[in-house]
Amino acid sequence: MTTSPKNVGIPQPVAGPSRLPIPLPRSPVERDASDISCWGRLTDGSLVLVRPLRDGERVPVLEVFADMSPRSRYLRFLTPMKELSPAMVERLTTLDGRDRVAWGAFSEGRCIGVVRYVQLVDRPGTADVAFEVVDRMHRRGVGRLLLGVLASAAEANGITAFTLTVHPENSGSLGLTRALSARFRFVDGLYEGELPVAAVLGDGRVRQQLDGVGLRHHIAFAPWVAVDRAA
Ligand SMILES: CC(C)(COP(=O)(O)OP(=O)(O)OC[C@H]1O[C@@H](n2cnc3c(N)ncnc32)[C@H](O)[C@@H]1OP(=O)(O)O)[C@@H](O)C(=O)NCCC(=O)NCCS
Repeated sequence: MTTSPKNVGIPQPVAGPSRLPIPLPRSPVERDASDISCWGRLTDGSLVLVRPLRDGERVPVLEVFADMSPRSRYLRFLTPMKELSPAMVERLTTLDGRDRVAWGAFSEGRCIGVVRYVQLVDRPGTADVAFEVVDRMHRRGVGRLLLGVLASAAEANGITAFTLTVHPENSGSLGLTRALSARFRFVDGLYEGELPVAAVLGDGRVRQQLDGVGLRHHIAFAPWVAVDRAA
């Protein structure tokens, strides 16, 4: 394992001009996130709630981590993780709705999966993606739904490609992203992948999960929601 994996959910600082094709609200807005929740469809047709995470919102991130097995945590973070350090939580919850974006899926009031991207400083229009789904919900389409949701948000923010770093034993992540046209190179014991945003949005099963509930429309116009970190 490399000592400095690129995609372990540690957002890098980003810079550069706005590339938004859609004039989304840019200033932090204090509002209840349920205002902009939408429904997403799983493979069996059942619905889960999806919504953007707010800047500084810790609970969904901690809920998903708590409900992941040690093996899933290892595959996600590329190292054994008993708990998330305060610094890691801070990094995972620092969001701005444009360069650092995260969405969550919720079922019965608890977060069951999170997907995030962080735009790369040295490659504008490209963002590193990471995602995790609680073990009890695997193979029900949550991961694909969340990638579709994130791709919709990325498209609205002018991002055209995702990059990701995957452990070679991570058949779930490799299976999911390869099915969406990701291409991988084996580098220093890990798979470095690239996944076009358009390929995600053009995938028939993603479209089935998103379009049936009008999700793409909602995502494109979802405002960025922030919370007061001091609260
Ligand atoms: C990777 C992960 C997010 C997939 O989430 P998921 O909700 O189980 O995936 P989905 O149900 O949406 O799967 C969609 C498709 O991906 C592929 N896939 C998913 N899991 C797979 C697996 N274990 N083996 C092979 N293919 C798999 C299949 O093609 C699947 O479609 P199908 O079920 O109709 O055959 C989940 O396994 C996870 O959280 N793993 C631990 C954390 C992690 O590895 N994160 C990614 C770091 S790069």
